Amino acid sequence: MLDAESIAFLRIKKHFEAFMQTSMEAIFCYEVDPPIPLDQPEADVIDQFMERSVMVLANDVYGKLAGFERGSDLLGLPLNRMISFSDPDNYESVLDLVRNGFRARDRLTVEEYPNVGKIYLLNNAYGVIEDDCLVGIWGTARDITAQKKAEQTADEQREVINRMNRIDSLGEMAGSIAHELNQPLTGIICNSHAVKLMGEKGIVIPDEVLEIIDDIIADVKRADQIIANLGALFTATPPDTMPLDLNMIVKETLALMNSQLITHRITADAALCERGAFILGNKIQCQQILINLITNAVHALEDQSGEKHLTVRTGRENNRVLLQVEDNGPGFSQSPIEQALEPLVTSRPDGSGMGMGLSICRNIVAAHRGLISLHNRDAGGARVTVKFLAEKPTSYKNG
Ligand SMILES: Nc1ncnc2c1ncn2[C@@H]1O[C@H](COP(=O)(O)OP(=O)(O)OP(=O)(O)O)[C@@H](O)[C@H]1O
Ligand SMILES: [Mg+2]
Repeated sequence: MLDAESIAFLRIKKHFEAFMQTSMEAIFCYEVDPPIPLDQPEADVIDQFMERSVMVLANDVYGKLAGFERGSDLLGLPLNRMISFSDPDNYESVLDLVRNGFRARDRLTVEEYPNVGKIYLLNNAYGVIEDDCLVGIWGTARDITAQKKAEQTADEQREVINRMNRIDSLGEMAGSIAHELNQPLTGIICNSHAVKLMGEKGIVIPDEVLEIIDDIIADVKRADQIIANLGALFTATPPDTMPLDLNMIVKETLALMNSQLITHRITADAALCERGAFILGNKIQCQQILINLITNAVHALEDQSGEKHLTVRTGRENNRVLLQVEDNGPGFSQSPIEQALEPLVTSRPDGSGMGMGLSICRNIVAAHRGLISLHNRDAGGARVTVKFLAEKPTSYKNG
């Protein structure tokens, strides 16, 4: 015969089990073994709490949330396998729990399970403390995964709209910059021609100065063309194309950037396809691609110790012509790596980059019906590959 106390205990146990199974919320209990003395520094308590807490009770609601049949499938799991501090919400919730004497209300935890992925729970928890030591923790948790995911989707959509707005404003900005620059650029050209005219009228001007004047005129024309193309990029106007040899463009662009490479102590190689690299393209835009890619490599190599190197390569692959720029810097940090192609994505310190270079390259390449891809090299460093449609060398003219 059971005594009255045992009977009362069994009745409570029965009611408790019924409550566990009918609860809409997840119910859990962790045992802390060995118990954690609470008179230690906070960081030690947190470490020991994560290591020593093992799940000893979970209802089926919890099991199903985690993608299992039953709550009992979760038993024996240590806390540090259920929640990871790589998620800042988990760290903050545990810190808050410890700082509040192991009482928590509506604290968010993020857990990840193979069958269901991430789940977001709002927890109420209560620590059992005996002789100033934590021996266990009881709690309930409400699933707010659907709500969190909806919030994330809304955030992502907002971010896309923000970006589109900024891109629209960039389009407008390009238009007004083109408008504003027109006058000073025309002024520079007129003045340069005036100096040349003085030479023609018999005033002695050294040949070196005349050469510099010619360079200034060529640079201004290039700037003018870049501005016109920039406007076209945002309005999807197809570029004026002509037959080009990319090998020539590589040589010209490396010469153009030579002083920048020397300043940064970067050595550059050109590995050019011997058969030529003939495409139908817009010269200024192709040059712009190369300038952007080389500039990115220069930035990537900036803080690099040891030898700094970049290679520009052209090649053939079936009906495609390849243009590659690779460096021995740290490689792309974006994940997935293709993110770097999106407008306004930059890892450069505040304000030093707009995150537009690769996105402009992608637009130019698309306007040429080409492909652009990003890779991190096995040997370290980044590689950007552009594939253009090949053009027959017979129609080639020196662009
Ligand atoms: N060669 C490279 N090595 C490593 N990371 C790179 C390289 N090229 C680009 N990236 C990464 O891609 C990001 C985007 O490049 P992108 O050229 O679009 O913008 P940006 O260089 O940051 O700014 P800007 O608008 O001045 O070009 C860079 O901030 C950098 O994180
Ligand atoms: Mg850039």
